[in-house]
Amino acid sequence: MNIGVVGGGTMGNGIAHVFAIHNYNVTLVDLNSDILKKSFSIIGSNMARQVKKGIINNFQMENSLNNISFSSNINDLHDSILVVEAIKEDLLVKSNLFIQLDKVCNNNTILASNTSSISINKLSQSIGRKDKIIGMHFMNPVPVMKLVEIIKGNATSNNTLDFIINISKEINKIPIMCNDSPGFVSNRILMPMINEAAYTYMEGVADVESIDQIMKLGMGHPMGPLKLADLIGIDICVNIMQVLLDGFKNKKYNICPLLIDMVNNGKLGVKSGEGFYKYN
Ligand code: NAI
Repeated sequence: MNIGVVGGGTMGNGIAHVFAIHNYNVTLVDLNSDILKKSFSIIGSNMARQVKKGIINNFQMENSLNNISFSSNINDLHDSILVVEAIKEDLLVKSNLFIQLDKVCNNNTILASNTSSISINKLSQSIGRKDKIIGMHFMNPVPVMKLVEIIKGNATSNNTLDFIINISKEINKIPIMCNDSPGFVSNRILMPMINEAAYTYMEGVADVESIDQIMKLGMGHPMGPLKLADLIGIDICVNIMQVLLDGFKNKKYNICPLLIDMVNNGKLGVKSGEGFYKYN
């Protein structure tokens, strides 16, 4: 069975990786062929880490890498049974891609979005196959995290929902369903905490390390909120806060100006080499 993944960034790489190690043929599409070369090497080194940990063996790694083809041509997704979109968190950009996918893919293809916060109903607005549109929200890092938050749109059919629940289990994830609402469950709760941590730092209440240590040691979080923001991507955090602000029109979701400054200065976290922390 062919799975399509669109977007060869942090999440697309992880999603392609997980389907490939579970013996699906994956086509990973990105507009940018340099990014695809980087994706190949990132997926390879993430699989090598799994070999070291004894999660997969060398033979499985080789097979899994062979299961992935890299393409900058969206037409290659025509035969996919499922396409998971993992591009920029922006309604217009994602909607345009869904319109393209609706044209390119065969009538049976299910189109899932890995969106962190954008309404599935809005994403399906301009396309025909509304019953085959669903949210399939993986967590970062995808090969490690068990949860897939499944978001059912108003028109998503039960067949589509069942398919996504079953395939999530096949790739060893735990699917949990929720309804379509800004930020769904995960980011409606997580992002305001990250935003508040940024305000706390900006206002000089404590330094970055202290804020993270307080949340780790005091609340039992495995990672502090500022380190997590770096892992997610500061740009993605800002985009999600914007969706919450637009969706609920409540000033409690006002975006911390420090996060906006960081994005304007290219400090996007791990992926750009600097966020709240510096990375090699
Ligand atoms: P990213 O910025 O790392 O990667 C996005 C990729 O999409 C880039 O490689 C870009 O070249 C590509 N792209 C953009 N437009 C495209 C198009 N029309 N066709 C093909 N490729 C295109 O973004 P990231 O972090 O992977 O996020 C992707 C999605 O996943 C977003 O919706 C985000 O909200 C969601 N998400 C992100 C998480 C995170 O921790 N970063 C966690 C869970 C969901």
